[in-house]
Amino acid sequence: MVRLMSDPEVFSGLMQMPYPSVEAWRKRLEQQVEQQDTLHLLATESGEVIASGGIHGTGRGVRQRHVAGLGICIAKERQGKGIGSEVMKRLLDWSDNWAGYLRVQLTVYADNQRAMALYRRFGFELEGTYRAYALRNGVYVDTHAMARFHPNPPRVPVTAHDLATGMKCE
Ligand SMILES: CC(C)(COP(=O)(O)OP(=O)(O)OC[C@H]1O[C@@H](n2cnc3c(N)ncnc32)[C@H](O)[C@@H]1OP(=O)(O)O)[C@@H](O)C(=O)NCCC(=O)NCCS
Repeated sequence: MVRLMSDPEVFSGLMQMPYPSVEAWRKRLEQQVEQQDTLHLLATESGEVIASGGIHGTGRGVRQRHVAGLGICIAKERQGKGIGSEVMKRLLDWSDNWAGYLRVQLTVYADNQRAMALYRRFGFELEGTYRAYALRNGVYVDTHAMARFHPNPPRVPVTAHDLATGMKCE
């Protein structure tokens, strides 16, 4: 993770800082093991982490149990090869069909066209823009808020047809 997060092409698109610490990442990953509301997927190649994607409850209390945040990054030399799409697909399958989040939200720098294209393809819509939201390499940058709602929220089955169709709304 530290090698992945040390690449300026990766951390500059995120909220991470340069020079990430091995110890801090070890602690963060260890804490995630206990968090049932979190999925953190890694893709590896020859033992190297080449992609990381996570979805996590907001942890803000009972009235926001339906809300999750999403973050993703792919190693520079692996970007643009469909890995981001594969990670998104798996994260949202887990979210929709196992965790049941109704709203998945994220922030993305307003000039990150590639990330926005990916998110739009998975149903995320622009909700608004935070001005000068973060400092990136000496410049304050605007950030878009995007969110996606569960396309087919599960409900309690009421008819035999519901049961036969796996309890999903149609
Ligand atoms: C953003 C990121 C996660 C996308 O992952 P990826 O593996 O490169 O994405 P994919 O190859 O699956 O798909 C990217 C899509 O954007 C399109 N795309 C690529 N460059 C683009 C650009 N400059 N403008 C618009 N669309 C672009 C691709 O054509 C593709 O769409 P398609 O499948 O319909 O052709 C990855 O580039 C990354 O990690 N960037 C650095 C960290 C980051 O910015 N993370 C997001 C933080 S919000």
